Amino acid sequence: MSTELQPNSDPIEADDDLSDSAYDGDSRASSTQSLTESIMEHVYENGRRYHAKSVGRYHQPSDETEQDRLDLTHHIFLELLGGKISIAPFDQDPNYVLDCGTGTGIWALDYGDLHPASTVVGVDLAPIQPNYVYPNVRFELDDLELQWTFKYKFDLIHSRHMIAGIKDWPRYFEQMYEAANPGAYVEIVEHDMNGYRCDDGTMPEDTIFNRWIKLTTGAMEKAGLSPLLTKDDYTRMIKDAGFEIVEALEFRLPCGGWPKRKRERYLGLCWAEQAKTGFESYSKSLLVNGAGLSAEETDEILEECIKGVAAQKEHIYVLTWHILARKPL
Ligand SMILES: C[S@@+](CC[C@H](N)C(=O)[O-])C[C@H]1O[C@@H](n2cnc3c(N)ncnc32)[C@H](O)[C@@H]1O
Repeated sequence: MSTELQPNSDPIEADDDLSDSAYDGDSRASSTQSLTESIMEHVYENGRRYHAKSVGRYHQPSDETEQDRLDLTHHIFLELLGGKISIAPFDQDPNYVLDCGTGTGIWALDYGDLHPASTVVGVDLAPIQPNYVYPNVRFELDDLELQWTFKYKFDLIHSRHMIAGIKDWPRYFEQMYEAANPGAYVEIVEHDMNGYRCDDGTMPEDTIFNRWIKLTTGAMEKAGLSPLLTKDDYTRMIKDAGFEIVEALEFRLPCGGWPKRKRERYLGLCWAEQAKTGFESYSKSLLVNGAGLSAEETDEILEECIKGVAAQKEHIYVLTWHILARKPL
């Protein structure tokens, strides 16, 4: 079965003239947003706000800065899929849809809006979803590493960017299989953390980006996570859980406004925008608490990464994977 989506696996051509790439590389996450919610529910650390329930389980903040970044990332992934919210090919709205680690709930809300006959359930550790939602969308707070107790069986299960939240991936996929109706689709979106890539020799061997990613993935491993999984690892584990693989797409996502082609440059600029706070979100807690760096050392590395993206000298990109699988009928 084909969704007619073509992964962009061709090399990304760099633009020689970066004067109009509209990236200023300024602006960092700040901790000065409003503190209207109960202070007891949160932990403040190194200038960012983390949800208390996530402590020890998930290392990224849940403050407004992070919520904005998650929403921008959602936009990037819509762009990457040519405007599609999902590649699961349903003839009519699926009955029950699950969004694992829903974050701000933006995917669940968009899916529910586009599929009014579906009931969409978004689950997360942190209560950062809106209160006023479409009648067919609901949010639940739960840890997806625990035994799943959903009262529905699902026809579509979506999971995007859970690499920093799931320790036991085989069990995660097994629980998906148990929670899926026969014929249901699972859609898994993850990205490569084995290193930044570059096709034209502009990324030096000692690039700050790979220094950052090595420190971050090292700390993730210490925390019991598996950041170095590859597309083949995910597809194997999904198959082992009992699913049949339908598609395993790979995209090159440019980091910065260096590409020549308009669409790739737009994607790169959006990525660069989210990276202004993303490097910090991803790794501040891990580098200070896990890798043993001081807050000052960490800030220096993060600053260098942000400046490096803004400079656009290194034509770097990341691989991102979109795997669609189906439970046999
Ligand atoms: C990087 S965000 C991705 C959010 C959303 N999937 C998206 O693509 O916009 C990861 C989310 O997963 C949640 N999360 C991490 N570990 C989790 C767990 N064990 N159970 C439930 N949610 C979890 C986090 O709280 C966070 O909101």
